[in-house]
Amino acid sequence: MRKTVLGVLVSGRGSNLQAIIDAISADRLDAKIGLVISDNPEAHALQRIAGWDIPAVVIERKKYSSRQEFEERLVAEFDIHHVDLILLAGFMRILSSHFISQFPGKIMNIHPALLPAFPGLNAHKQALDYGAKVSGCTVHFVDEGMDSGPIILQEAVPILDSDTVETLSERILHVEHLLYPRAVNLFCQQRLAVDGRRIKILPEPSREGAKGL
Ligand code: GRF
Repeated sequence: MRKTVLGVLVSGRGSNLQAIIDAISADRLDAKIGLVISDNPEAHALQRIAGWDIPAVVIERKKYSSRQEFEERLVAEFDIHHVDLILLAGFMRILSSHFISQFPGKIMNIHPALLPAFPGLNAHKQALDYGAKVSGCTVHFVDEGMDSGPIILQEAVPILDSDTVETLSERILHVEHLLYPRAVNLFCQQRLAVDGRRIKILPEPSREGAKGL
């Protein structure tokens, strides 16, 4: 069967991109990265893929006179590379409703909080300032709102009295790196059943088959 082709949008550090690469290398994720797009030529994410056979392109917003033209270029690149699923992995731009409507149920994001708590920027600081005792991370499909799409997977992480933004980010990031590849793999295995806002996880096909024996 043809592998699901991933298109990954990055702007910076790229540790979640690295987690996806590592999961594919370790056979924990049956997919192929067809393209990495960075809107930032300096993104460390681009250095991470050096040496891997992964096509990458830098598309800077400032090189285009409008957001629409910038996004048309993104869409063209995803088309050329036959991308099935777009992953936002630390991509620091808000995509327009028009862009998102072209890929229904085909764009995922990871957010470093338990949505719908603490959406948007500075999620760790928001959680600490609020005095929450638990935060975590969420993988969700992207819809037209801010971090508001249907939730695929979430995992909680405790907030300690001694936490700073740095220590909490680190503890959550460790979980992000496990959760994102797991969510992508569920998509690749066609095990995400979307029912309005609720996403149900279907059992593994082999187990289903075994039940019928
Ligand atoms: C992660 O914390 C992710 O949850 C958020 O942006 C950060 C990206 O980090 N959306 P990295 O570039 O993947 O290291």
